Amino acid sequence: MSNKHAARLPRPVESERIPLKARKVSFSWEDTPLHWVPGEPFATHTMNVLHLLLPAGERWFVHVYKQVLPHIRDERLRADVIGFIGQEAMHSQAHDEVLPHLRELGLDPTPYTAQVDWFSEKLLGDRTLPPGRARKWWLMEAVGRRLPDHAALHLERFTPSTSAEGNGAFEVELSRSARTVSVAADTTVLAAVRAELPDTAYSCEQGFCGTCQQRVLEGEIEHRDELLTDTERGDSMLICVSRARGDRIVLDM
Ligand code: FES
Repeated sequence: MSNKHAARLPRPVESERIPLKARKVSFSWEDTPLHWVPGEPFATHTMNVLHLLLPAGERWFVHVYKQVLPHIRDERLRADVIGFIGQEAMHSQAHDEVLPHLRELGLDPTPYTAQVDWFSEKLLGDRTLPPGRARKWWLMEAVGRRLPDHAALHLERFTPSTSAEGNGAFEVELSRSARTVSVAADTTVLAAVRAELPDTAYSCEQGFCGTCQQRVLEGEIEHRDELLTDTERGDSMLICVSRARGDRIVLDM
């Protein structure tokens, strides 16, 4: 993140500035009853959900913000982010420590926490992107998801290049999956592939983020993105926008 980006964020006036520093906290839960809001089991468990939800979410904050740190050049912002990482790590641990107590009270949080873990680690987790522009943009999107609405991260996306030749239909062979899919003129390679392989990673669907990049083993590519380097274009394509020039292309997937 450059000084220019940081400068666009509203700054607190100096007198309101509170340095972020993780407080070491520790709680003793053993005397806490099952319904700790007296006579209010529903309210108790609604608040208990925070102990299930927050540990994985806060671990995710820590993981993403650690990756962002080397890109921050504004010293004050850097100090805030370091403080935030420490605070979130401490919160995550404090919420985690409640879970054994819930188990002792006969509540098994695992079915819920397993889903939250899946959400944080798989759905929001790292994309296997090589270092470079695509990875940096993914990181900025990941951070942007955590900003409050009033501090929106402004990302501009431009429509990918259009082909002078228009769209044609072609076949895509998925070599590792031993399948072949047809890509009609009015659909994308990504959509056709996802019909067969629903877990195929993607994000922007505009040839912008690089998440859908796939290696091409055979066939001529009609690149329609503005993201890949010339070297990357030699053997890979962004399947959300780019197409085959001929009637067949083979992808390593
Ligand atoms: S999904 Fe973003 S480039 Fe294809």
